[in-house]
Amino acid sequence: MKLAVLKESADGERRVSATPETVRKFAGLGAEVSVESGAGATASVSDEEYRAAGAAVGSRGEVLAGADIILGVQGPAPESLAGAKPGAWLVAGLNPFGERARIDAYAAAGFEALAMEFMPRITRAQSMDILSSQSNLAGYKAVLDAAAEYGRAFPMMMTAAGTVSAAKVFVMGVGVAGLQAIATARRLGAQVSATDVRSATKEQILSLGAKPIFVENVKGIEGEGSGGYATEMSDEYKAAQAELVSSHIAKQDIVITTALIPGRPAPRLISDAQVATMKAGSVIVDLAVEQGGNVEGAVAGQVVERHGVKIVGHRNVPSRLAADASALFARNLFNFLSAFWDKEKGGPVLDEEIGDAIRLTKDGQVVNARLLG
Ligand code: NAI
Repeated sequence: MKLAVLKESADGERRVSATPETVRKFAGLGAEVSVESGAGATASVSDEEYRAAGAAVGSRGEVLAGADIILGVQGPAPESLAGAKPGAWLVAGLNPFGERARIDAYAAAGFEALAMEFMPRITRAQSMDILSSQSNLAGYKAVLDAAAEYGRAFPMMMTAAGTVSAAKVFVMGVGVAGLQAIATARRLGAQVSATDVRSATKEQILSLGAKPIFVENVKGIEGEGSGGYATEMSDEYKAAQAELVSSHIAKQDIVITTALIPGRPAPRLISDAQVATMKAGSVIVDLAVEQGGNVEGAVAGQVVERHGVKIVGHRNVPSRLAADASALFARNLFNFLSAFWDKEKGGPVLDEEIGDAIRLTKDGQVVNARLLG
């Protein structure tokens, strides 16, 4: 069984899909790992370290030749896979809804494309979940990015020259990224509040020492849909949420938004008029900016200023912590493939529950229900 580890080619992508640690572990399963030269450079892993872990290091052509499984962080351009054998698995974050043309091309080339972001949210798949591992780091980094743009301190400080008051941080969307943002802002000494549409998060917010800000007494209040994800809310709810947010947001120094609804554009949580009510020098970080944005005026890949408020819209935030993000991503891939490793076959054999959820293409066709439905 030959595994190919590609050098990422997407703009601004600094992560890599295998580390020396996972190369060793794959070798322990009897797999042969081949890494494209320079693949780890932007995540602080040298070719030498991959070699020392037992990998062969070579050109893209050498790495792809005869590979049974091709690993990536993002989906590679189909034309860059020339020479790979039909039937090979392509395992990466493939952005199935955003890159449909690419998925069709993988099918046409005969690859079996497996989208790691479609991993079901079931207990046994937690260690394979790239969305969680990467969102966790993004939530952390969002707070540091806010702190870097903010012209004041986060903790309260009592000094001989007077008192510096604690920053007020409001986290909107308390999934994996939001929880880590709350924890990070608390560690920095901020006064933190948070909101979500799923009422189950109230307890989690309290347990992290933050204040829950929730819409009460409105029809359709429970925003939890399938798999623990949020659903689209009623108009009545949205109006109540907007009112609540308006009064709260004007008093905040930092707002971190992380709200997503699977397969839909990100919900709009903050309007330009609400930004205008914030104090000059406040900072908003929109982690959903690449999915359409939670904040009006946020621009993907830029830090913009509106009404004296900085709105941070970095793309691919996990890639800004490339070494740790790669280590966790690589472990997700190893945990996934090793869980299904069949000793006799010398490679992975997927079961129906996970296989059907993540398989996008097979035998020349797009086969995933979420893409066909
Ligand atoms: P996500 O990235 O899809 O969304 C982020 C957050 O935004 C969610 O908490 C969502 O409820 C919230 N949100 C959506 N619309 C909103 C709105 N209009 N206003 C305010 N907030 C809004 O979610 P994520 O981080 O992927 O986690 C979702 C859930 O899945 C969590 O309960 C998490 O614990 C669970 N989970 C379960 C896993 C497993 O069992 N394998 C793995 C990872 C997460």
